[in-house]
Amino acid sequence: MIEPSDNETLPNILSVGATVPEKVLTNEDLEKSLDTSDEWITSRTGIKRRHVLEKDETPSSLGVEASREALEDSPVGVEEIDLVIVATNISDMPIPGSSPLIVEELGLPSDIPFFDLKAGCSGFLYAIDVAANMIRGGGYDKILVIGLEALSRIVNWEDRSTCVLFGDGAGASVIGDRGDRGRILSTSVHGDSSKSKLIRLEGGGTRLPPAEGSEQDERYYLEMEGKGVFKSAVNMMKSSSLSVLEDADLTLSNVDWIVPHQANIRIIKQLAKSLGVGMDRIVVNLEEYANTSTATIPLAFKEGIDEGFIESGDLVLLTAFGAGAAYGATLLEW
Ligand code: ACO
Repeated sequence: MIEPSDNETLPNILSVGATVPEKVLTNEDLEKSLDTSDEWITSRTGIKRRHVLEKDETPSSLGVEASREALEDSPVGVEEIDLVIVATNISDMPIPGSSPLIVEELGLPSDIPFFDLKAGCSGFLYAIDVAANMIRGGGYDKILVIGLEALSRIVNWEDRSTCVLFGDGAGASVIGDRGDRGRILSTSVHGDSSKSKLIRLEGGGTRLPPAEGSEQDERYYLEMEGKGVFKSAVNMMKSSSLSVLEDADLTLSNVDWIVPHQANIRIIKQLAKSLGVGMDRIVVNLEEYANTSTATIPLAFKEGIDEGFIESGDLVLLTAFGAGAAYGATLLEW
């Protein structure tokens, strides 16, 4: 049992739900349409497969499914949810965002507030930080946070340097007070806007509106500076991890499991090395799902629980980095 610290008033992560689409795209599938190989993708990224939405499926449907799981797994009734936060970088349509669609589909009370939150791949941890502090502030009691992503809809499937990296998925958690498990000990969110262009999609907004022929223009697809992303991801996830530990007066030796953003196995190994933590304390599942952006943390966290690695009472450190550059971490006792 961790001793209470100054942050003892933070609420709990009461449950975790996660889902991916049924359709699977393997590296071998991609070899058929791209100048790439299973060997290149596996050795550079650790990814073997990714799950992607079918054309007629919507990103919000993933959020609904993950939320249903999180609600079923929590001691909280649907009627008790008083706010919904959806962390995502994509939505079924530009306006409205995904959150009202999900509230309606879930059958939550129609008069509760909701909003979408865009913080790159760190969105789920940003949403936890916001929810925990809103509950601590006293205005809310039980908040449903969702990380949902369908980057398959915005990557260029002819660009081998990006499309092989991503998959679709969603995760959700109910955040609330007085739970028996998931006590949040500390959260932190950070940014470095000087690196805001490392990962970008320039086209489709007001600066570069949709135009005829834009499907041939790389600026209308997700782009990134791979080496810059790599370096920043390691440094920023390390720094936010140390920051939450310091806030909770704990050290890495107290941590049982680290659940990092699942972007790339080499980034994760480098993070482990720089923290001085063995890979046997790190949850990794990107071989199956690739980088699902805001959904990687709940997907990996839930898998760690379901597979029996993460047990009751374990100290778990979640850490992520993404477009913006937004990064953050959450420390909790499961
Ligand atoms: N298959 C075969 N060859 C490829 C592929 C591919 N899928 N992609 C790129 N290449 C080629 C390049 O064209 C290049 O060829 P060239 O030398 O003839 O020009 C060669 O491989 C080397 O390219 P690099 O970009 O230098 O490859 P690198 O070893 O740096 O690996 C990678 C690229 C995996 C993207 C790496 O930079 C990386 O891991 N970056 C981190 C980025 C990341 O994971 N982003 C995730 C999204 S962002 C986020 O989640 C926060």
